[in-house]
Amino acid sequence: MKIAIIIGTRPEIIKMAPVIDEIQKRGLKYLLIHTGQHYDHEMSDQFFLDLELKKPDYNINVGSGTHGNQTATMMKGLEEVLIQEKPDLVMVQGDTNAVLAGAIVAAKLHIPVGHVEAGLRSFDKSMPEELNRMVADVCSKLYYVPTEDSALNLIFEGISPHQIFITGNTVVDACLRNLKIAQKRSLKNFQFSLNKNIMAVTIHRAENVDNPQRLRNIVEALIEIDDVTVVFPIHPRTVKNLKNQGLYEKLDKCSHIHLIKPVGYLDFLILLSNSKFIMTDSGGIQEEAITLNIPCLTLRYNTERPETVVAGGNILVGTRKDEIVKTFYKIFNDKKIFNQMKKAINPYGDGRASEKILDISLNMYKSSKLRIEAPEEIMLNFKRNLIKVNDEITVFEYEKLENAVVKIVYDWDKPRFPYPDLNLKNKQIVVEKFYK
Ligand code: UD1
Ligand code: UDP
Repeated sequence: MKIAIIIGTRPEIIKMAPVIDEIQKRGLKYLLIHTGQHYDHEMSDQFFLDLELKKPDYNINVGSGTHGNQTATMMKGLEEVLIQEKPDLVMVQGDTNAVLAGAIVAAKLHIPVGHVEAGLRSFDKSMPEELNRMVADVCSKLYYVPTEDSALNLIFEGISPHQIFITGNTVVDACLRNLKIAQKRSLKNFQFSLNKNIMAVTIHRAENVDNPQRLRNIVEALIEIDDVTVVFPIHPRTVKNLKNQGLYEKLDKCSHIHLIKPVGYLDFLILLSNSKFIMTDSGGIQEEAITLNIPCLTLRYNTERPETVVAGGNILVGTRKDEIVKTFYKIFNDKKIFNQMKKAINPYGDGRASEKILDISLNMYKSSKLRIEAPEEIMLNFKRNLIKVNDEITVFEYEKLENAVVKIVYDWDKPRFPYPDLNLKNKQIVVEKFYK
């Protein structure tokens, strides 16, 4: 089996690294394709060094640009590579333009796509990431989803449960493994003590940093929160906008704020694990915060990671200055709330997501379930029914008996993912069947 891994940005390199390690461990053939969306040393090469990854076999070198331009160039480059290399499976991760381009191109070439971190939804279509992940999920064959919630998002969009696998998130694999490595390494990048009350801050979401009012609000909140040492590794998109708005100098003048370049993964894990608070609009950092038991304030009005909020480790504070400052001090001044947030249970698994992803992919490949072929049967009558089950029977047994697919299970009013071993007694189920 030959797997093509497509990556384009910092978080994809980090979250695909454990999958690549697992592929190597099993001695499988793979090729690494970088779209070049992130290209600065500290946004790309540094992660190859930190995570000991081989150099990409191909780099499309797309660079920066408008969404249409960037996606089109990536599609063109990826198509050429995939036609030449003919992989058995293409893996994409997350919700960037690289994922959008990779998934469409592969699906149209009838190469099965495995989407790592599939099924996340913010339900906010103004976000480029929401469109990217939805399109990628339309094009995918295998869905490696982090949680049952993300599985249900796909179920409600009509995806077959037989293609959805709840694996946890590979960010936990990456975070736990590399923290141990990071702890053995000296701290080159921090010229200040990490023994104080540290708050790690990152922002880069288009809806925050491209909006001058929101960016100003966040900056003013950071200036006002002067009871902690703010460490702010700044994303290149954010540097540009802060400088354009004259806000960089304003932040730089504050003695409690350290503005630094983006740091490598090992250094960033040291920073996070020494932080008392995290303030961010990043997706991956919301996940890392709960993995490392650090209270997180998310500078957004929604999140495709609602599990972190439900678990109690993350609060959506939005982008209004007063709300950010008020919420921060509520946690800062109340040990009980702070400790409750620290105790939130990580919903993203035990660090074995990449192992599960490889098990599933190999299984599906060996049982020929990855093939994408035009059917040779006239379409039969399709029916979808809601049925109350009275017997002791599992999903797997029911499907075999009725030659049907159990799409959704309702346990009273709560929708559940139809795990094959779930007992259906006293549950309502939505069943899909093709009749002759
Ligand atoms: C992209 C992803 C976003 C992800 C983020 C991770 C999309 C639509 N967005 O956002 O989902 O959370 O990566 O960090 O795919 N730039 C540089 N050097 C670089 C890369 C970018 O200077 O190496 C600057 C350029 O001015 C560029 C801007 O940053 O125009 C934005 O980069 P881009 O890759 O378009 O989007 P991100 O904001 O990085
Ligand atoms: N990260 C890093 N150095 C930094 C900032 C972030 O290594 O200076 C890592 C962080 O640990 C996380 C990932 O980058 O794993 C998140 O990337 P980003 O916030 O850019 O993207 P998102 O997760 O929002 O897509």
